[in-house]
Amino acid sequence: MDNEIYGICYSEQTHIIRPQHMNSQGRLFGGQLMLWIDEIAGIAARRYCRGNVTTACVDGLNFIDAAHFNDTVTLTAGVTFVGRTSMEVTVLTYTEKIDGTRKLINEAHLVEVALDKDEHPAEVPAFIPSTPEAQEEYEKGRLRYELRKERRLAGI
Ligand SMILES: CC(C)(COP(=O)(O)OP(=O)(O)OC[C@H]1O[C@@H](n2cnc3c(N)ncnc32)[C@H](O)[C@@H]1OP(=O)(O)O)[C@@H](O)C(=O)NCCC(=O)NCCS
Repeated sequence: MDNEIYGICYSEQTHIIRPQHMNSQGRLFGGQLMLWIDEIAGIAARRYCRGNVTTACVDGLNFIDAAHFNDTVTLTAGVTFVGRTSMEVTVLTYTEKIDGTRKLINEAHLVEVALDKDEHPAEVPAFIPSTPEAQEEYEKGRLRYELRKERRLAGI
């Protein structure tokens, strides 16, 4: 998945890994990355529904590779599926070395729920995938949405 596939509500954040972002093994601290992921997912969802949102679920947060001191870290986020009041935001995180080499280090799917003024779930606009790739991601998002629902109903 890349920027073109996301189309609307695409967000990007870039950071340089500094000492305050590291864990005691000299790698990027996972909790720090999770903070950035949660933040950018919220931004993409707010842009989509043009309202306030809250994170209901962080689904499939996969740490694929490590990031190190002085790496440039780029997060990209886009809405991949919407239900009635929820939006699935997919966040991909890459590292970029000084020589420009880019590597995917994390993939996550977050469920953001739109909230009305009373903080109750609010309906969101329908999602119309604009490219065949977006359609493919949408179908995967639908499958994840159904699986999450089944898990919740089963209480697991
Ligand atoms: C998220 C929250 C608003 C949902 O409220 P609720 O009364 O359970 O509402 P509903 O059951 O109608 O669910 C609303 C939507 O969220 C989805 N949802 C709720 N809980 C979910 C979960 N654990 N995982 C995935 N999706 C979830 C539902 O599928 C539904 O989506 P849909 O309308 O697109 O089908 C409520 O649970 C909440 O406020 N949670 C705390 C969120 C928070 O504070 N986050 C920040 C963490 S510090």
